[in-house]
Amino acid sequence: MRNLVIEGGHLLEGTITVGGAKNGAVALIPAALLSDEIVTIDNIPNISDIDALVEILEYLGAKVQFEGNKIRIDSRNIQNKEIPESISTKLRASYYFMAALLGKFKKVVMYFPGGCNIGKRPIDQTLKAFSELGATIIEEDNKYTIFAEEIVGNNIYLDMPSVGATINALLTAVKAKGRTIIENAAKEPEIVNVATFLNNMGAKITGAGTSRIIIDGVTNLKGSYIEVIPDRIEAGTYILAGVLMGNNLKIANVIPRHIEALTMKLKQMGASIKINKDSIIVSKTNQLKPVSIKTLGYPGFPTDLQQPMTVVLCMASGQSKIEETIYENRFQNVVYLNKMGASIKIEKNVLKINGPTPLLGQDVESTDLRAGACMILAGLVAKGKTRITKIEHILRGYENIVEKLQAVGAKIEIKE
Ligand code: EPU
Repeated sequence: MRNLVIEGGHLLEGTITVGGAKNGAVALIPAALLSDEIVTIDNIPNISDIDALVEILEYLGAKVQFEGNKIRIDSRNIQNKEIPESISTKLRASYYFMAALLGKFKKVVMYFPGGCNIGKRPIDQTLKAFSELGATIIEEDNKYTIFAEEIVGNNIYLDMPSVGATINALLTAVKAKGRTIIENAAKEPEIVNVATFLNNMGAKITGAGTSRIIIDGVTNLKGSYIEVIPDRIEAGTYILAGVLMGNNLKIANVIPRHIEALTMKLKQMGASIKINKDSIIVSKTNQLKPVSIKTLGYPGFPTDLQQPMTVVLCMASGQSKIEETIYENRFQNVVYLNKMGASIKIEKNVLKINGPTPLLGQDVESTDLRAGACMILAGLVAKGKTRITKIEHILRGYENIVEKLQAVGAKIEIKE
């Protein structure tokens, strides 16, 4: 079994370049099969979630070619086959294939998707969208058979601005007959990325990035090109590493507007952070003030940065609070931070963090992707050695994280 071993206390200097957004790329790849021609997606991150999606594409009969971070997808000859449970449960984003196949073939058979174990993750809003668009859904033992004689545009009102349901509704509605309006849509930049890709194919989508998306169905979709936007969560994670251990650490290939919720909080804490046009420079800050944070959909504070942020709040003088409003069980990192010397209490969905508390290296676990990022940050700032197990979770979502951190001076390595 592979572990990550970190010797803490080393300053981070130089530049870390952020890769393409995981949560953009994992939707763009399934979206590609809607095209009747060949498409190219650039800036694909090198993470294992992408491998799982490519496995599904190839299983369906698509031709997939990689050239560095560029992927060329020819799905002209794909077949609408049932995707085995063993593949679809590897990751959450497999359910984008549900929507894309339903949109293209008007029928799909697939299992409930996988994803990090961070609490219940229902897909009722996605299923509601499918049914509003005219589909019949039969569920048996986690297996969904979804079909329609015709996909017909409709008004879809989402009960909550779900990222997954918004993208799924988009993917299914793009070739529907007539107009679809998604109300209370999620506004994440990754959704705009997907809509741009589809529009480049000839789709007619307006309003992506706002809470009202309008889609006028088209019959054909041509070849197209898109670049995955920079990963705002990866950027945020390295910015936090910089607040803990940076010495003018530069995070390059960033869209600062996409992570304003984080940078505004860090400024409020008194962190040393300089924002340029497409990069951010951060240095270790010793006197941090406590803050209160509530996770929300974009443009609010992202839940995906909540666990990494907790480490920085351990360094602030006084009590900070985090209210997690998106997931019911995204605090599994806390027990390990406390083991390292933190003083954090969980009260229902609120964390109360008393700082500053120095951290000491320990054996800890990466219980899920962002918990793993949290443990890496804790290891970088802790005294002594931290050993992290279950690192597959981290490698699912962070491109070359070990190499990127080593290159700026971290003492981190993978041990077999
Ligand atoms: N929800 C429902 N019903 C639904 C959909 C959502 O009740 O039909 C509730 C659930 O509580 C769910 C929460 O809303 O847990 C958030 O769901 P959402 O659909 O917004 O999230 P997602 O599409 O499942 C994506 C990212 C997550 C990220 C969230 C929120 C992907 C593949 N995943 O998940 O990323 O946390 O949006 O921004 O894009 C991660 O990268 O670590 C990660 C978990």
